[in-house]
Amino acid sequence: MPLSTLLGTTGPTGFSSKSTAEDVTEGLDLSGKNILITGCNSGLGYETMRILTQRGARVLGCARSQEKAQTACDSVDGLAVPFVCELADPHSVLACVEAVREFGEPIDALICNAGIMAIPKLETIQGYEKQFFVNHVGHFILVRGLLEQLRDDGRVVMVSSYGHTMAPRDGIQFDNLDGEKGYSAWRAYGQSKLANVLFAKSLARKFSEDDTNRIAHAIHPGVINTELGRHMNGVMQAIMSMGKFFYKSTPQGAATQVYAAVHPDAAARNGKYYTDCNIAQPSKNACDPELADALWEKTEAIVAELTGH
Ligand SMILES: NC(=O)c1ccc[n+]([C@@H]2O[C@H](COP(=O)([O-])OP(=O)(O)OC[C@H]3O[C@@H](n4cnc5c(N)ncnc54)[C@H](OP(=O)(O)O)[C@@H]3O)[C@@H](O)[C@H]2O)c1
Repeated sequence: MPLSTLLGTTGPTGFSSKSTAEDVTEGLDLSGKNILITGCNSGLGYETMRILTQRGARVLGCARSQEKAQTACDSVDGLAVPFVCELADPHSVLACVEAVREFGEPIDALICNAGIMAIPKLETIQGYEKQFFVNHVGHFILVRGLLEQLRDDGRVVMVSSYGHTMAPRDGIQFDNLDGEKGYSAWRAYGQSKLANVLFAKSLARKFSEDDTNRIAHAIHPGVINTELGRHMNGVMQAIMSMGKFFYKSTPQGAATQVYAAVHPDAAARNGKYYTDCNIAQPSKNACDPELADALWEKTEAIVAELTGH
C-alpha cells in the first residue's frame, strides 16, 4: 500500500485516500445525466449509486436479478432504474444491452464495477475461468454493446484493482483461459483485473481515434471491507482482517470510480489509471498496447463463439 494512501496525503487533484464519493462530487449538479453501474446492490456499487442519484443523476442500476436491482434502486433517494445483468451469462448481458437500448436514453457513463475475487477452487463459465469471464468478458459484452448509446463525451470506467499486479508474469495466459494448465485464486483474480485495465486502455485508444470526446479510465478503489471477500477461506479472511486499521470506508472506496466517471477534471485525460482519486502508474503489462490488442481480439473471438455477435 503506498505511503500516500496510509497517510491520506492530498494529491494533485486535491483529493486523497480519505476523500469520499460525496467529497469528490461536492458542488456538481448531475441532473440530466444517465449513468449505468454494474453490481449496484452491494458495496462500492451501491454507494456509487447512492451518491450519483443524490447529485441528481439517473442511475441505471444493474444486478444479477430483478429483485436485487429493484430493491437497491428503491432504497436510494433519487432516480434509479433497475436492470438485470448476470455477467456470467452472455445472453443475460445481451438482454441487458437490449433493455438499455430500449430504454432509449443516451448514456453519460458506464461504470463496470461488479466483480468477484479469489474463488478458492477452479470454476469455469462456458469453458473459461470464472473470474476472467465475469470480471472481464461479461463487461466486454456489455460495454461493446452500449458504445453506440454512449454520448460523444461519455466515459467508461473499469473498476480494476491493485491486484492486477498479481497477474501471471506474461500478463494474460491466452493458452490457459480455462485454468486447466494450473490455477491460483489470486493469480486468476489478478489476470481478470489486468484485463480490466487493458480493456480501458484499448477503449481509450479507440476513442482517441474516432471523432468524439469519449474517454475510458481504469481505477483501483483501495482496500475496503465489503462483501468481496466472501469466497476467501477462514485463514485468508483472518489475514485480511489484520489490515482492517488501514481499510478505507465504503464511501472512501467509492470515491475514485465516482471521480473518474463524473468529475470535470477527469474528462481532460483519457486512458488513465486512478488510485485515491489521483493518477497512478499501473503495471508494465497494463501499459502494453500489443497485449491490449491481443486481449481485445481474443475476447471478440470468445464472444463471437458464444453468442454469434
Ligand atoms: N473491496 C475492495 O477492497 C476492492 C479492492 C480492489 C478492487 N475492488 C473491486 O471493486 C469492485 C466492487 O467490489 P466490492 O468491494 O463492492 O464487492 P461486493 O460488495 O462483493 O460487490 C460486488 C458486486 O458484484 C456483483 N456481482 C458478482 N458476480 C456477478 C455476476 N456474475 N454478474 C453480475 N454481478 C455480479 C455482486 O452481486 P451479488 O451481490 O448478487 O453477488 C455485487 O453487486 C469489484 O470489481 C472489485 O474487484 C474492490
